[in-house]
Amino acid sequence: MALLSTRINLLPTSRTLASGVPHAPKLLLRMPPQNHGHDHGPGPRSDQPALWAGRSSGVSNVTRVNALPNGIFIKRFLSTSSKSLAEHPDTTSIPDFSPYRASSPESNKTLSYFMVGSLGVLAASGAKSTVTDLLSNLSASADVLALAKIEVEMGAIPEGKNLIVKWRGKPVFIRHRTDDEVEEARAVDIKTLRDPQKDEDRTQRPEWLVMLGVCTHLGCVPIGEAGDYGGWFCPCHGSHYDISGRIRRGPAPLNLEIPQYAFNDDEEKIIVG
Ligand code: FES
Repeated sequence: MALLSTRINLLPTSRTLASGVPHAPKLLLRMPPQNHGHDHGPGPRSDQPALWAGRSSGVSNVTRVNALPNGIFIKRFLSTSSKSLAEHPDTTSIPDFSPYRASSPESNKTLSYFMVGSLGVLAASGAKSTVTDLLSNLSASADVLALAKIEVEMGAIPEGKNLIVKWRGKPVFIRHRTDDEVEEARAVDIKTLRDPQKDEDRTQRPEWLVMLGVCTHLGCVPIGEAGDYGGWFCPCHGSHYDISGRIRRGPAPLNLEIPQYAFNDDEEKIIVG
């Protein structure tokens, strides 16, 4: 049968001050004075500690009652103590891995070579597919390829007129020049030009001038049949191009660019691109 225990801790009843005087706020330690008709009657003096008072200052006198243990114990099932492991070595059994060990170092090498080779093949295959996907994404789409070349009917451009077509996002000027314009373009002394270039080198046929309509200064689109030289004029910063598209005045540093083009005489077309 379990024993019931009772443990009672009582508050300190008294303590001794540093001066040796007992201090007990709830107890009256001083004997009341007995008056026998004179000042010094029998009994202890009120300003001296009692004989039973200890001299050790600051120590509390505690009244304590400890009951016996009640006989109920709780067993510890978990422990981090190394002592308990040492007492029970069976709990740290190590598995046997010997069936998994290689029979010889050569078989280990063969496996290593096989693994390295397989991983190399996989890596090369992944890299190839990655590069292929990247290049297919970077290459021009079908609608862009369709615009890689444009065909212009020569009969649609009368002599002395310009036609502007869009090719790869840029304007292309095609001018059907008159004989006078050809003569004027070829009479220029190229030594006086900022970007010296013969008109013969800029045209495949004298009457047809094909150029990119992009100002070589900052990329504006020049206006045709304008400017001081009867060719093109860029209003952005005032560049003047002659009837061969060569820069003659203004901030542009170069002549208008000549794109790739060819003539299809059977169909009477100019193919740009
Ligand atoms: S962009 Fe044509 S002159 Fe500046």
